Amino acid sequence: MNWGKSDREIWLGGKGIRFLQDLGVTAGEVVVDFGCNAGNYTIPAAELIGSAGRIYAIEQDAPALKQLKEWARSHNLKNIVYLNTSQIKEIDLKPHSIDLVLAYDVLHYFGKAERIKIYIRFYNWLKPDGMLSVFPKHNKQDFPMWHLAELDYEDIIGEIESTGFRLIEKTEQELIHDDYLENGVILNFTVSKLNAVGS
Ligand SMILES: C[S@@+](CC[C@H](N)C(=O)[O-])C[C@H]1O[C@@H](n2cnc3c(N)ncnc32)[C@H](O)[C@@H]1O
Repeated sequence: MNWGKSDREIWLGGKGIRFLQDLGVTAGEVVVDFGCNAGNYTIPAAELIGSAGRIYAIEQDAPALKQLKEWARSHNLKNIVYLNTSQIKEIDLKPHSIDLVLAYDVLHYFGKAERIKIYIRFYNWLKPDGMLSVFPKHNKQDFPMWHLAELDYEDIIGEIESTGFRLIEKTEQELIHDDYLENGVILNFTVSKLNAVGS
């Protein structure tokens, strides 16, 4: 029963794990959560990948990272590497070392030139069979805001594919956005070796 529970409690209590299982996340994987905030996706991913896996929690907001660290400490999660981008100049991850990059509800923070650089960085981090998963909230078709306000899903797919990724799946499913469960569109991409730029 979920009576009296907040959406975040329901998410962290199991729904988030099921979401990531459906995405294909398994034990031992190495994951990047870019713009993780307090860990809506980092926490269930850390639980799923287990002690043999590792997740890089990348965030510029120190209080959000602190909240994530406190949760991890109290739940004995030791496989999270915290990267505060307000303090480090370059995110120095080994090329082709990552199984999955999550870029959820974060692209709207960046203008086009910066987004392209970010996709290229993701591309270089990912293993040849790795996956980029994007939740492009705040686009033209879903509560438009900031830098994605004028772009629809096709525009976003085209922009990401221009850096060498290939869309494998576009799905709509229930997920957490900020503190609330809602339906959101997820775009999943593979690394295509054929037409990468900047790598
Ligand atoms: C709306 S939140 C989404 C949080 C989480 N991904 C989720 O879906 O629940 C976006 C987060 O991206 C972070 N962010 C924005 N630009 C960033 C950057 N350059 N480096 C790291 N984090 C960034 C923000 O601080 C914010 O916490």
